[in-house]
Amino acid sequence: MLDRRALLAAPLALAACERFAEAQTPARDVPGLKTLVPFPIGTCIRSDRPDDPQWVSLATKHVSQLTPEWEMKMEYILANGLDRPQFDRPDAFVAFAARHAMRLHGHALIWYSQGEEAFAHLDRARFAAAFDAYIATVAGRYRGKVVSWDVVNEPVTDAGDSLRDCHWSRALGQDGYIIRAFEQARAADPDAVLFLNDYNLENTPRKGATFLKLVERLMKAGAPIGGIGSQSHLDIEIPAGQIRTFMRDAASLGLPIHISELDASLRSDRRVDLRSRDQRLAEQTGRVGELAEAFMALPARQRFAFTVWGLRDTDSWLRQGERDDGQDQPLPFDAAGRPNPMFDAMAGVFTART
Ligand code: XIL
Repeated sequence: MLDRRALLAAPLALAACERFAEAQTPARDVPGLKTLVPFPIGTCIRSDRPDDPQWVSLATKHVSQLTPEWEMKMEYILANGLDRPQFDRPDAFVAFAARHAMRLHGHALIWYSQGEEAFAHLDRARFAAAFDAYIATVAGRYRGKVVSWDVVNEPVTDAGDSLRDCHWSRALGQDGYIIRAFEQARAADPDAVLFLNDYNLENTPRKGATFLKLVERLMKAGAPIGGIGSQSHLDIEIPAGQIRTFMRDAASLGLPIHISELDASLRSDRRVDLRSRDQRLAEQTGRVGELAEAFMALPARQRFAFTVWGLRDTDSWLRQGERDDGQDQPLPFDAAGRPNPMFDAMAGVFTART
């Protein structure tokens, strides 16, 4: 006869079994995302990823383009100061991409959140010269090795009605630093596609409009902007149709578009959240599907690439340190490399529309 302790232990054992079974479930056999579409599928890379065989096998199966997640930024390159740029890790990305026949997208030359300290001691004239020299050195070094650059990252404020005030704009002018960065990048790498990149363009329509007005101004001023980068860290609660509207407005400028950092968090940090997980997954797959549809609807020459900001949920910047709730599923694959509903949302649209 079963005693009480055994009865109590049974559900626990069952739960443990289920967890074990879940961990053992083999990955469903799915097609490589890059095989479904005629444009590049991208993800971000960090220097430790090539040592992770599961990441390498997912990346080589699904993507054809890489964006350095951190180690091609000024914060890394100038970690030892202006006079001692370090290129070891960006160089390793170039080698990795070449070995796997992937394109490399450079990210990012000029960003309001970086470089303030390294440039702080310079007077106006030396500041401008150092700005030019940084772009010449970095974009020049990777000429012919990267296919494109985010030349200026995140120029518009969060509220979305103006451009950011930052060390670059204070020294070189509000549109001035942006135009100058594009001109310098063009001179250093005449063949790279040069992007202006920002986030919340579809989440916050006012920000999307301000960004597109800036792009128009740059084009009118003759700045060599070659593409629009929309990070697409999606807010899954935005109304249906809002993504499509932004993409249509962006497309009307005629430039190639890069969905440059897609992820779609299930969390809401703004309020007490009563949505069930299933509701959130439905919102997430709905919005990701809408984005994929809108991208597929672009003329072929405007589809630069479709990049997810990480492959497995646990790789995501949204799942690091204090931000990690252990539950979020912002990316196409789970921690074990198995496809999430987000994968199916993307693959479903890519398959149906090709
Ligand atoms: C993030 C990376 O994912 C993090 O690992 C890093 O610590 C900070 O930057 N917009 C961008 C990206 O353009 O470079 C950011 O990436 C995410 C927001």
